Amino acid sequence: MDWGMKNRMSRLIRPDSGKAVWLAVDHGYFLGPVAKLDDPAKTIKPLLPFIDAIMLTRGVLRNCVDASLDIPAILRVSGGNSIAGPALSDEGIQTSVEEALRLNASAVALSIYVGTEHEHQTLMALGALVNEAQRYGMPVLAVTAVGKELEKRDSRYLGLCCRIAAELGAQVVKTYYCEDFEKIVNSCPVPLVIAGGPKLKTELDVLKLAYNAVNEGAKGVDMGRNIWQSDNAVGMVKAIRKIVHEGASVKEASTLLISAKNKK
Ligand code: 5RP
Repeated sequence: MDWGMKNRMSRLIRPDSGKAVWLAVDHGYFLGPVAKLDDPAKTIKPLLPFIDAIMLTRGVLRNCVDASLDIPAILRVSGGNSIAGPALSDEGIQTSVEEALRLNASAVALSIYVGTEHEHQTLMALGALVNEAQRYGMPVLAVTAVGKELEKRDSRYLGLCCRIAAELGAQVVKTYYCEDFEKIVNSCPVPLVIAGGPKLKTELDVLKLAYNAVNEGAKGVDMGRNIWQSDNAVGMVKAIRKIVHEGASVKEASTLLISAKNKK
């Protein structure tokens, strides 16, 4: 691996723990003003001290994040679709690698939609992005998107998506936790991080998700709604961090979460 690529990767996955806590706030690129992310600057600011990187679009980076802060950005470069449009999978590259370099991004991210009518276009976009990003030592994060079809989140389907993403050159893959997650990890030769998905019923469910994922081989989380839609978002990110970086149990993380709530 070239020095630039190695250096960027080491800003994303902490060399001391080998793990990562990323905050995903890119949802607006197809969902518009999602609940509790309607004012991105307000949502993001209190969480920044507890994350290793932030995943977002260029619009939110430029307008809602202080440029003097040293926070690695994972720049979402795919888009062109919306929740109101005919097909969520109809996505393409929307932001150039040159723009990612200008914004001092530490990685670029795009979604792939395996098994949909736009499978080919999104996989070709991944290949093209890797070709260009590789030239500049810029890691590519591939997101195995499921759109509205949340039931697709099983190990057979996600294993297929993750392996294809790695084969096509992604340096990191973001997927969902599911039963038999280890099978996905074992058949994917690059690091995996997990998304949280829609808000879970309880805070304990979120901690269990993070715990199970890292204990079954995920390098960490790239989570959004289950952090910032929580009424105790700072407590939640701190608790997740304790699991991911310190190997804490769900009980230990939950104690931290409750104490953060009481301090509010
Ligand atoms: C959408 C994304 C989101 O960043 C991703 O789904 C993570 O957020 P959440 O934890 O809310 O699911 O990549 O395609």
